[in-house]
Amino acid sequence: MVPLKRRKVVSSQTGTCGTEIKFPQFVLFLLERKMGTSRRSFLSELGRRKGFKVEDKFSETVTHVISESNSAAEVRTWLDTQVRGQTPSVHLLDVSWFTESMQAGHPVQILDRHKLQEQQITEEVVAFSVPSYACQRRTTLENHNMVLTDALSLLAENAELSEEDGRGVAFRRAAAVLKCLPEPVRSMAQLRGLPCLGDHSLRVIKEILETGASSEVESMRESERYKALKVLTGIFGVGAKTADRWIREGIQDLQQLRDSEQTLNRAQQAGLEHYHDLNQLVTKAEADAISEIMERTVISVLPGAQMTLIGGFRRGKQTGHDIDFLITHPEEGREEGLMSKVVSCLEAQGFLLYQKTTRNSYLESSSGPGRPSSNMDRFERCFSIFKLAKEDKRGETLMEDGAKTLNGDPGSHSPSSGQSQASGDRKRASEDGAKDKPSKHKRWRAVRVDLVVSPISQFAFALLGWTGSKLFERELRRWAGHERSMSLSSHALFDSKQGRYLRATSEEEIFAHLGLEFIPPSERNA
Ligand code: UTP
Ligand code: MN
Repeated sequence: MVPLKRRKVVSSQTGTCGTEIKFPQFVLFLLERKMGTSRRSFLSELGRRKGFKVEDKFSETVTHVISESNSAAEVRTWLDTQVRGQTPSVHLLDVSWFTESMQAGHPVQILDRHKLQEQQITEEVVAFSVPSYACQRRTTLENHNMVLTDALSLLAENAELSEEDGRGVAFRRAAAVLKCLPEPVRSMAQLRGLPCLGDHSLRVIKEILETGASSEVESMRESERYKALKVLTGIFGVGAKTADRWIREGIQDLQQLRDSEQTLNRAQQAGLEHYHDLNQLVTKAEADAISEIMERTVISVLPGAQMTLIGGFRRGKQTGHDIDFLITHPEEGREEGLMSKVVSCLEAQGFLLYQKTTRNSYLESSSGPGRPSSNMDRFERCFSIFKLAKEDKRGETLMEDGAKTLNGDPGSHSPSSGQSQASGDRKRASEDGAKDKPSKHKRWRAVRVDLVVSPISQFAFALLGWTGSKLFERELRRWAGHERSMSLSSHALFDSKQGRYLRATSEEEIFAHLGLEFIPPSERNA
C-alpha cells in the first residue's frame, strides 16, 4: 500500500463492455510501461470479461495498479507524474496477481510475492530532502548535478527568451533544488518528496538519468530559433521582444542585422560594436582590476564614499557576464549627485565606451509600497561598458595606441565611441562596422559594468537585493509575501500586519526580520 501525495483527477471510465461488474471494490489499472500496448489491452479486456472493473485511464478511483517487470520505485515515479493532491492509498501489484485472479475467476488473496519489489533505499541511494524556498537553503557554487541543472537551465532560458516567464521560473526552481543536493542524483526514487520538481522537469531528469541526455533539450539547443534568439539577445540592449521581432522579419544573425535597415538605439549600437568582447566571460582578475579603478574614482570624487562589489562576484563566482558595484556614503544625503560625478570622472579618464544613467525615484509611502516587487530599479543606476586595458606578460597595462601605463591608469585616452552620444541616439545597424571581431592588436577589452548608488538608510536592502542570485532574490520576496505578509524590495521591508517599514543596517537583520536563518553570499548561488 502506497500513500499517494499528489493526484490528478481524471474522469473515470466505468461499466465497460456492458459486462456485469462482480468485484466493485477492485478497480484495476494496468501500466503500459514494459507491458506494451497490445498485451495491456488484451489483459484489460480479459479482466473485464471476468467481471473486473479495469480502467483505461488512471484516476483517483483506481485501487490496484498492475504492472509487469517494474519495481515499486519505478511505478511510484510514474504515479507521481499522474496524480496531484491527497489520496488514500493504492496497491502496487505484479501481473502475476492479475493472471492468477483471472484463472481463479475472482481476486486471489494478495501475497507478498504479488507485491512489487521494494527497491532498497540503502546508504547508496539516499532520498534527498530540502526546504521549499531557495532562501531557506544553502547553495554553494559546488554543484553535483551539473548535467541535470544545465539541461533545466536551458529550458528555463528558452522559456524566458520566449517570454513565458512562468515556465521559466518553474524550471529555474527545479534546477535550484538539484543545485543544493549534497551528491549526484542516481535514481528517481531519491527525488521523491522534493519540492518544485514538476512533471516536465521530472520527465527531463528521468530521461537524462536513463539515457544521458534529454531529447527535448538537445533538439532545442540545435533549433534555429533558439540559436537566433541567443545570438540576438547576446547583443547588449536587445531583449527577447526585440529579438523575436527581428527573427520574424528574417534576421537570424549579426550579419543579417547589419545588412538590414533596422534602427538601433544607442545601447544596441554599442552592444553590436562590442559584441565579441561582451560575450566573453569577465574574470575575477578583471573584476578586481576594475574594482581598483572604481574605488579610486569614487573616493576621489567624494572622500568617505564606500564601494562594494555585488552580484555574482560577491557570491564568490570566478566569472560573470558583468561586474556590479554598489556605492553609498555613511552620511545620509551625501550620496546625492554622486553618480553623475563618478561617471564624469570615469569618462574624463577615458574608461567608458558607453553609459546610460537612470535617476532615483524611490519614495517610501506611509501606506506601504504600492508595487513592491517592481521597486527593483529605482536607484540611481548606471549601465556602462568599461574600457579595460589588457595586461601584457610583464604585468604592465596596455592601451590601444601602444602607450604603456602602470597600475591600470590609462591617462586621458579617449574612448572611441564615448563621444558617439553627441551624434544622436539612433542609427542604422549597417552603419556599425565589424568592430566586434577579436583583434590581436587591440590593447583593451570592453566589459559590462553596472553601478548602483544607494543612500545609507537603504544600503542593507540594496546589498541584499543586488547580490543575487536572481532566483534567490525572487524566493526571498516570495517568502516575505507568502510566509510573513511582508514585502521586500532592494529599498525596504514593509510589514503589512504592523503597517510599517522595518529598518535594518545589515543583511543579518533583514534575514532576522524575515524569520530566516542568515545565508551568507557564497551560499546564495541558487
Ligand atoms: P546580474 O544580472 O548581474 O547577475 O544581477 P549576477 O548574479 O551578477 O550574474 P552574472 O555573473 O553577472 O551573470 C545581479 C543582481 O542584481 C539584481 C539581480 O536580482 C541580481 O541579484 N538586479 C539586476 C536587480 O535587482 N535589478 C536589475 O534590473 C538587474
Ligand atoms: Mn552581475
